[in-house]
Parts: sequence; C-alpha cells; structure tokens
Amino acid sequence: MEIVYLNGEFLPQEKATVSVNDRGFLFSDGIYEVTPAYRGRFFLLDRHRERLLKGMCELRIDADLAPLAEVHDELLRQNGLAEEPVSIVYLQITRGVAPRTHAFPPTPVAPTVYAFAKAFHRPTPERWQEGFRAVTVPDRRWARVDIKTVSLLGNVLAQQAAVDAGVDDAILVRDGVALEGAHSNLFAVLGDALVTHPLSNVILPGITRGYILQLAREMGIPTEERPVQVEELRRADEAFFTGTTTEVKPCVAIDGEPVGEGRPGPITARLSEAFIERTDRHASQVTAAAGD
Ligand code: PDD
Repeated sequence: MEIVYLNGEFLPQEKATVSVNDRGFLFSDGIYEVTPAYRGRFFLLDRHRERLLKGMCELRIDADLAPLAEVHDELLRQNGLAEEPVSIVYLQITRGVAPRTHAFPPTPVAPTVYAFAKAFHRPTPERWQEGFRAVTVPDRRWARVDIKTVSLLGNVLAQQAAVDAGVDDAILVRDGVALEGAHSNLFAVLGDALVTHPLSNVILPGITRGYILQLAREMGIPTEERPVQVEELRRADEAFFTGTTTEVKPCVAIDGEPVGEGRPGPITARLSEAFIERTDRHASQVTAAAGD
C-alpha cells in the first residue's frame, strides 16, 4: 500500500484527497520539487530546499518547511524505500483551498502540502549505450520557467510530441536557441567545451545541471554557460540531458539526424560515470569533495 503525506498526515494514497477548490487544481497555483535519494540518503537536499524557498518567495506562498527533511525520510521508510538504490520524493505545495478568484484569497488560507515517494529505475547500461533520441519543439511555456511551478502544460505537450514522434525526449527551442528538455536541462559538447544555457527566466535552474557543471570543472573539462543555437546543437560532438529523474542521459539523435557519431560520446560517458560514483559515495555516507 502506497503511503503519501498530505497536510501533516501520512495516509494511504487512496485516502488522500484535496478539494475541487484547491488553487492547484483551479489555477496550477503551486510549486513542486523532486529530490533524489540514494540508498535512502537524500542527495543535495539543501539545494532543492533552497530552490523551493526561492520559488515560494516569488509566488508569495507561505508554508513551514521545517518538517521537510523528516517528511522525506519518513516517506521512504513507510514505503519500504530506505534501502532502494535510487528513489525520489515529489513534494507539491499549492496556495490552498478558497473560492475561485484570480487574485490571492483575500483572507490567507493554509497551503496544501502533498508528497509521495517512489523508486527510480536507471536505464540498463545497454540501454544507456544505445542513447536517446529527441525532437525539437517550439517552447510555448510562460516567461518564468525558472520557478518550478506545477503549471507544466507546455512541458506536457512537448513530451507528448516526443512520444508521438516515437522518440524519447523533446528539446524546447525559442528564437532559434535550444533551451532545455521537457523535464531536464540540456548540455552540448562543442569542440573542447561543455556548453549549457546560462541561468535565466527561460530555463529551470536544475540542481543536477549545477552539480554537473561543478563536476566538469573539477575534472578539468572547460565549461561555458551561453545560449546554444539549435543549428549549432545539430553539429555538436555530443549532447546530453540532466535532471533528477534523468541523471546524465546521452542524446544521440535530434529530429532523426545523429548527434556526433550517433552514440554516447566520451565526455558524456565520463561525466555520467563521475556522477554515479558521487551518488554511490553519498549512499555509502562518505562525504564527496563537491560538498554534497
Ligand atoms: N524535472 N528542466 C525542467 C523543465 C525540469 O522539469 C527539470 C526537472 C529539470 C532538471 O532539474 P533537476 O536537475 O533539479 O531535477 C530541468 C523534474 C524532475 C520533474 O518534473 O519531474
């Protein structure tokens, strides 16, 4: 039986219900976070919490995050995931329940806080070696995608376009620039350098993105944060996606054309190995150099 957390209580998922007047349901007026755990130990939880807090400030949603770490641990424990190689906790906070008016409820209401945990299964090494294919899709999202809101219709439609095209991922393109994946950040290897879009309002500041940049610098791989034109991306030596439910995922074809040699490149492989090694070390409670 799946146990979830809702507004201070742990309960079976079938018993967890929210009002039709919840502003998350009516307006997507809410925010979320997805945090990974390796053998039950949360990875970079502080960075996820900081991003959540920033988003809550932007949206002026007020919730007590003090019990957050305990709720995360307890969800893993109650769902038998404490020893799972990789699992995630999804946390969502909406502005709460109030009769429908566009502006915030005139009298503040308690936010709705919901969380669940589940196992995450990495692709097998064979599947990873095959690589993943993507299509480019126009980015039709709003202008503040740096805030991790539950308003994800643009991402949903982009990912569905990938499914409809029979491929794995979508690359969101705006004004000729390849921004990020439908649920991940995007990197390209151009010559010697690892390049990714700079932090701004048009991409999500991915926690994995930041960690991979940090790892690359430690490994002596030159990094650049600048916009990458989609035409430049098509000629890249390598490309890959990063994210909590993605880790490092090689992108080997874009719109049916191979990226580089059409298989995962050496920099992608090195970074993926280094990332997995760090998470393994974290799982066995050895403090990693990158400060996690
Ligand atoms: N998605 N960009 C977008 C649009 C995302 O939705 C995500 C994560 C990322 C990567 O962020 P991070 O490294 O912090 O996971 C980038 C989550 C996992 C999701 O929606 O399920």
